[in-house]
Amino acid sequence: MDFSLPHSFCFFLLLLLPFSTDGQTYRNITLGSSLTAANDNSSWTSPSGDFAFGFQQIGDDGFLLAIWFNKIPERSIVWSANRNDLVQRGSRVQLTTDGQLVLDDQSGTQIWSTINSGGIAAAYAAMLDTGNFVLASQSAANLWQSFDEPTDTMLPTQTLSQGRELIAPYLEKNYSDGRYMFALQPDGNLSLYTTRYPSTVSNFAYWSTQSSIARNGTVINTVFSIQVSMEDFYQRATLDYDGVFRHYVYPKTAASSSRNGDMAWTTSSFVPSNICTAIQGQVGSGACGYNSVCRLGEDQRPRCECPPGYTFVDPNDLRKGCKTNFVSQDCDQPSQGTDGFELEVMPNANWPFNDYEFFGSVSEDWCRQACLSDCYCAVVIFNPAGQCWKKRIPLSNGMIDPGT
Ligand SMILES: *[C@@H]1O[C@H](CO)[C@@H](O)[C@H](O)[C@H]1NC(C)=O
Ligand SMILES: *[C@@H]1O[C@H](CO)[C@@H](O)[C@H](O)[C@H]1NC(C)=O
Ligand SMILES: *[C@@H]1O[C@H](CO)[C@@H](O)[C@H](O)[C@H]1NC(C)=O
Ligand SMILES: *[C@@H]1O[C@H](CO)[C@@H](O)[C@H](O)[C@H]1NC(C)=O
Ligand SMILES: *[C@@H]1O[C@H](CO)[C@@H](O)[C@H](O)[C@H]1NC(C)=O
Repeated sequence: MDFSLPHSFCFFLLLLLPFSTDGQTYRNITLGSSLTAANDNSSWTSPSGDFAFGFQQIGDDGFLLAIWFNKIPERSIVWSANRNDLVQRGSRVQLTTDGQLVLDDQSGTQIWSTINSGGIAAAYAAMLDTGNFVLASQSAANLWQSFDEPTDTMLPTQTLSQGRELIAPYLEKNYSDGRYMFALQPDGNLSLYTTRYPSTVSNFAYWSTQSSIARNGTVINTVFSIQVSMEDFYQRATLDYDGVFRHYVYPKTAASSSRNGDMAWTTSSFVPSNICTAIQGQVGSGACGYNSVCRLGEDQRPRCECPPGYTFVDPNDLRKGCKTNFVSQDCDQPSQGTDGFELEVMPNANWPFNDYEFFGSVSEDWCRQACLSDCYCAVVIFNPAGQCWKKRIPLSNGMIDPGT
């Protein structure tokens, strides 16, 4: 792909509010206007039509009040108000006559509303061509903007201020709060964290920028250092459900697509480079679930797999981990182990944090027998230097990596 054009993709880290809508073209959404969740695709669009605000149906589960790329078939969602609380058909979003944006479910119960800065009532609302939905005062000062309450995605002109964060979705097609967070630390570092799921409290960082860069406001530009033309490509940076923060581009026309007119989101850049090995916490299961292994695919995306003899707890949610599909060794029958069980070989695999015994200067066969005759032993790691580690269940941070 040719990213040599002179426009850079960057976020500025400013603690700036309000920001003026002066100079933007927009259509006013007047007080009293509303949209109802139905299958009619009604929405409030930006002047160019690039972005729309309204309800998106999520399978059979309900509707998300969202902002999405409106000119591309994928309708990719960039923001939502009620990701943990889908609403049903007949729910309504209204710009009330007293100048607030309010989402009510089909029974009229309020699900969400804006909190306008200074408690000032808005005079009108507008969906801007940047992808920002704003509530503005009579003097066109922004009282509330969707850019200040990001969900999992940043757009090219969007800023991230202290105390704001991105939370990954739970799964690719499940927009509920997931297991990863992107935030600006007080020291100016931009970091990716695991969360203490199901809470959204950060656990530990698995990727971070240099603080001096972040303070200077050029950090995302540094992270996604590829230069992409804003005229030729739609762009977004999304913290995906797998914990990888990816910069995506989508050609605006077939002519700007370098892949033979292929019209699709493609990843131009991402961090961390290997999520399977980046997450190294003493608590938590790692990039995949307990007892599983993470392998980076050819497409550079992580794959969760179960070791031989194990199957996924939930095939629709692989990160719930793997369970044994055999009856575990009985500690009352020590002889059973060597007769009734065998060890399967998995090259380049490791679970770095589950050791409970270590032996040096031993043979591979000795290491095997030591595990088979030990009812606590689930895995042994043996290396050519004659080192042998016994490991226990549940196995965490599993990975298959050529460097292991
Ligand atoms: C709504 O949009 C979808 C996807 O673009 C389309 O398949 C469907 O026909 C539209 N429905 C109506 C009522 O326009
Ligand atoms: C939007 O509404 C405000 C307040 O009524 C008005 O001052 C402004 O001129 C309107 N802008 C447009 C583009 O219609
Ligand atoms: C998304 O996943 C969460 C966690 O498993 C679950 O509670 C929720 O019901 C799911 N949402 C949908 C729409 O399937
Ligand atoms: C900020 O990031 C730098 C570089 O990764 C790291 O050395 C430093 O410890 C981080 N600061 C904090 C508070 O995490
Ligand atoms: C901020 O950026 C400028 C220009 O890119 C650079 O010269 C300066 O060293 C940077 N400051 C810090 C604290 O990184």
